[in-house]
Formats: sequence, C-alpha cells, structure tokens
Amino acid sequence: MCGIFGYVNYLVEKDRKFILQTLVNGLSRLEYRGYDSAGLAVDGDKKNEVLAFKEVGKVAKLQELIDESQPDFTKIFDSHAGIAHTRWATHGKPSRLNCHPHRSDPTWEFAVVHNGIITNYKELKTLLEAKGFKFETETDTEAIAKLAKYVYDEHPDIDFVTLAKTVIKELQGAFGLLLKSVHYPHEVIAARKGSPLVVGVKTQKKMKVDFVDVEYTEEGIALPAERASQNVAIKKSGATLGAGLLAPPDKSLLHRSQSRAFLSDDGAPMPTEFFLSSDPSAIVEHTKKVLYLEDDDIAHIHEGSLNIHRLNKNDGTSNVRTIQTLEIQLQEIMKGQFDHFMQKEIFEQPESVINAMRGRLDVENRKVTLGGLRQYISTIRRCRRIIFIACGTSFHSCMAVRGIFEELTEIPIAVELASDFLDRQAPVFRDDTCVFVSQSGETADSLLALRYCLERGALTVGIVNVVGSSISLLTHCGVHINAGPEIGVASTKAYTSQFVCMVMFALSLSEDRASKQKRREEIMDGLAKVSEQFKEVLKLDQTIKKLCEKFKHQKSLLLLGRGAQHATALEGALKIKEISYLHCEAVMSGELKHGVLALVDEDLPIVMILTRDDIFPKSLNAYNQVISRKGKPIIICNTGEEEFPHDKTERIEVPQTVDALQGLINVIPLQLMAYWLAVGEGLNVDFPRNLAKSVTVE
Ligand code: F6R
Repeated sequence: MCGIFGYVNYLVEKDRKFILQTLVNGLSRLEYRGYDSAGLAVDGDKKNEVLAFKEVGKVAKLQELIDESQPDFTKIFDSHAGIAHTRWATHGKPSRLNCHPHRSDPTWEFAVVHNGIITNYKELKTLLEAKGFKFETETDTEAIAKLAKYVYDEHPDIDFVTLAKTVIKELQGAFGLLLKSVHYPHEVIAARKGSPLVVGVKTQKKMKVDFVDVEYTEEGIALPAERASQNVAIKKSGATLGAGLLAPPDKSLLHRSQSRAFLSDDGAPMPTEFFLSSDPSAIVEHTKKVLYLEDDDIAHIHEGSLNIHRLNKNDGTSNVRTIQTLEIQLQEIMKGQFDHFMQKEIFEQPESVINAMRGRLDVENRKVTLGGLRQYISTIRRCRRIIFIACGTSFHSCMAVRGIFEELTEIPIAVELASDFLDRQAPVFRDDTCVFVSQSGETADSLLALRYCLERGALTVGIVNVVGSSISLLTHCGVHINAGPEIGVASTKAYTSQFVCMVMFALSLSEDRASKQKRREEIMDGLAKVSEQFKEVLKLDQTIKKLCEKFKHQKSLLLLGRGAQHATALEGALKIKEISYLHCEAVMSGELKHGVLALVDEDLPIVMILTRDDIFPKSLNAYNQVISRKGKPIIICNTGEEEFPHDKTERIEVPQTVDALQGLINVIPLQLMAYWLAVGEGLNVDFPRNLAKSVTVE
C-alpha cells in the first residue's frame, strides 16, 4: 500500500539538495499509493552518519520539514545511496515514529523502507528482543532493520548480498524493500516478494555499451570489470512496454552475461544513476530504461553496476531479466489542463478505449486479434468454465461483461470477488480458465487468488493495465489494456478499457461460432463508435456539475440499474462513495420491491439507469414503483427517449449503442457525478481519505 523510491549515484557529482529533491519528487509521484506519512534517509555530513527525515501527512509536509531543518544543501556526493518512502498505515498508526525509513539502532547502521507486510514480525521481534534489541515503533518493518544488524554483528565480514539473503530468508509475507547501510556505503539492496519494484538506469553520454538484456548466474557474481566489458554486447532491448501484450521477452535478443556493468570506452567505471521505485511513473522523468524485478530477486547496486541474485538456487524460475524501454511520457502522468488526475482520466477515455482496441479490432475484416491470448484461445474455448476474479472497480467491469460472455461463448461464467473467493477456498479445477482483472496488477487479494488457481493447475489469464506487474508476470497469458498511467485513486479509464478488452476477449472466443456472427458484427460496429460516443457524453460535464448541486447536504443516494446496468450502478455507487463520501447504494431494480422501496419518498435522491435494452419494459416497472411513491428520480436514458415526461423527471441523455456496450457509455455520467460531488464538497478528489491506489495488503 506504500510507495518506495531510491536514488543511487555513482561517479556523478550531486549536491545534497539535488539528492533530497530527487527523492522527494519520486515520493510525490508515488503518493497515490498511500499518503499518511513520508520519510527518507540520506548520508550525513560525517562518515557513517545518516540523516533521516520523517513527517506525518503528504509528501509536501516532508519537504517543509527538510526546508526547516536546513541541512547543508551544498555538500557534494560523487557516490551516494538514498532511500525514501510514502506510507499508508497497516501496522501502527500514522506517526513520525512509525513512518519509514526504519532503523536498526539509534545510529542508523541499517535503514530500510518497505512496502507490504511481514507476517512473522512478532516472532522476529520476540527473538530480537531476547538478543537485546529495543524496538521503538509499532511497525512490522522495524524487524527487518534490526535483523540486518543482528546478522552483521554476528558476522562482521559478511558481504552485503549474503547479509541481505540471510535476512530475507527469515521474512514471511509480502514485501518490496530497499536496504541501506553505513557498513556498505553508496550501495543499496532492493528485494521483492509480492510487491512491485522497478530499477531505472541512467548512464552518462559517452558510454561503450548501450543497455543489454541480462542473463545472470544463480550466484550473481559480478565479473571483473574487463571481462564484463568484453562480454557485454551492444544490443538494444527488444521488449517494449505498452505493446499491449503480456508476452515474455524475445529470448533470441538476450545476451549471456553474469552481471551488468556500465563501462566507458576506456573500460573505466561508468558514471551511473539508478532510480528504484514501486512503479515506473516515478522513474520516467529520469530515464526510460527500466528493469522489473521478480519475486525472490535481490538486486545489488554497487559501484555503478546492477547485479541480480536469486534468493534460492535452482528454484526453477527464469534467470532472464530484460531492460525495457518505457513508453509512458512524463506528460501522461501530469495533470495537464485539468484540475485533478481523476478529471483528466475521465476525459482521456475517448482516447484510452482507442488504445485498448488499436491493432486488435479490425472492423472491416470482422476480426479481433489479441496477440497475448493467441496460443491459448482454443484451450479456453474447451474449458469447463471461466471464472473472473477481481476486486473493486475491476470486479464491476467483470460483472458488466458477464452477460455478453455467456451469450457469445456459451461457457459457464462465474464472477468472483478475490477476497471472498479465497475465504471460501472455492473449488478450482485444471480445466477451468481463471481471468484476473486488475488495473495495477498488484492487488494482494487478486494476486493471492491467482497463486491459489495456479496451484490447482487452472489456466490463468491477466487483464492488466500495468505492464511488468505481478499479475501480468504470473499469469499464463493475457491482455494489456493500454489505458496508460492511472494516477487518480478512483479508477475510471481503467474500467472502460477493461470492459472493452474483455468484450474483445469474448469476441475472440466466439470467432468459430457461426450462429454468433451477426451479433459479433453488431458488437464490433458498436466498439468502433464508442470513442466518438464518449466525446458526446463528456459534453454533459457542466450539466452534471449543475445537477450535483441538488445533492448537496444529502445523506444518501440510490442508484438503480437492471441486467448489465446493475454493474454500472455498482460502479457508479463505488465512485460516488469513495471520493465524495456520500453514502450511495446500488440496487438491482428488480429487487426494489423486495425491501429497498421502503426507503423511497419525495426526498430521497435516486438515479435510475433506464437506457434501452431487452429488459427495458421490466426496468420501467421499477421506475413506476418509484414515481408512485412520489420519488423524483434522475434518469439516465437514451437521447430523445420519449418514455419519461420532462416535468416528472430530470434526464441525463446519452447516445444509444449495442446493449452489450451501453454500460460503457452510461458509466461516464456517473464518473462525472462522483467527481463534481467531491469537488462541490471541497474534497481531495485524487487522494480520498483512507484509500490508496494500489492495495497490496489482504
Ligand atoms: C475504485 C478502485 C478500487 C480498485 C481495486 C482493485 O475506484 O480503484 O476499487 O478497483 O482496489 O484494484 P486493481 O484494479 O488495481 O486490482
């Protein structure tokens, strides 16, 4: 739930101001992951001295603290390792003490920042307390720093990697972490298990080699400089992000080398900067060359080189890591002309859905090609059932496409909340296909459910936005939704892109069914128009803003939808709750009469989704039930709809599309409603209280 960032420079002169600024900037980019406190650790003025700053609140507060403390900003470091963290509390309340980095002892021999949870920290704490360590925080992370010192004190000659391995072997749970120590100055250990970590690499202009793909030994022993220089071939990375597929890197492009050393023409050590981060959005402004660590990787950054070690020998995982080129642009993660990221992301949807379909939907030739699934489509067609597993908004997008999957594939479809699925230990079989839908690709509940399904031999598919994320790496195959970075905590464009990708998935699966061709064509034609229709709906922005004034000072709001529009109502209600804090309940219209109708009177705000589909006459029953209880619903209906008299209802008119896609259009007014309700209350739209973008805890 937290964000970690590190900066290491080697033979590149930087003053302390630059180092602090780089760390603070990195944290502000990651703030969406969690933001109750922030902290960092850099080298002090004297040898073996560490300067740590920690503050409760947003990253801006940390910056204020640094400015007030007035460290010597001009001190130059030609090699230096700094680590930083933005926290979303899991163990221990938000406070300066509980904020990261955590230390091994008052002199900061070891400093650690950590994302995730160490589930056996109590046992470690008991053990270390028995050895005389005094714990000062309520966090699980502190045990890591103290354990590192314990191992060091027992074996003062130990190298940093062996020390890190010894510590990490004792840790249970999930983590991404950075470790820094006065005993190994200018070096950093980065390790992950279940929490994402990316390493960005930036070298100075004159270099003998460009970035290469790296294959390393299990020992990960660095070659002597000259040998490394001979062994490292000049070869650009073949894998690119944003290619839309979660395909493995092309192995033919890989070069064998035990370690990656960056060397200049004359073989001298190359001035290098490394940026470590929970996700690439904090790195892209510095370098586009990144390497994603995998679970049980231990990366050691040392004298300008990056060595990757495995926690256990021969664990059967690939020993190939690729330096990839990021395709996201800095402006993509900036707000641009918009007041909030969420607003920007809502307005990006005409473009993001196009990106989801680019190169995949060929309307003219009536073809859908999802390269990341190509090899698996025929297996999926034969599966016993498809289980969609996700959380929150991603769960709603699965709900939204369930009907069209059932109709086009005629395969039994289940849609599961990851946490509940695991709580029930639901039966999963080898001939099941389990589809994991996630914007971040890191949601702990979804990830655990994925591991559960892998253990049971099911075929797994990822529908993911973040390339290189855990879900994209662990699933057998998948589709990258190409929505671009989503920074606002409330998911918007990821929902519509997931929806579109899953519809394309259903179209692919039904390609061989003659009886479905007409329907498939109708849907493809609909998809081709969605982007333009989004632009139409977005013109309602100011109308919706005005309408939201009605809801000021209301305590509760009902959102009614039936069939596929129940998913739209669920998603709209979640958006409204999470950013405007107005209680909002989604009700399946058919269920109204079974209880909820008792709430309806002339005062209760109600929004009803009443666009045309096969079950429109049934949806009208709910409308009549509300009207006859003197309810005054706001209706989301198709443009020119004549059913609802203008004098009895307020209307939000949206363009009509194929029933299976109508939810894409209908959700946008609800996203806008959530946005304007939150703005109207003066709330922090992008950073709603108590929430974080990436939920990496169970
Ligand atoms: C709501 C929202 C969350 C996420 C949920 C799953 O706006 O963003 O409900 O959808 O935490 O996250 P991902 O999709 O990253 O797995």
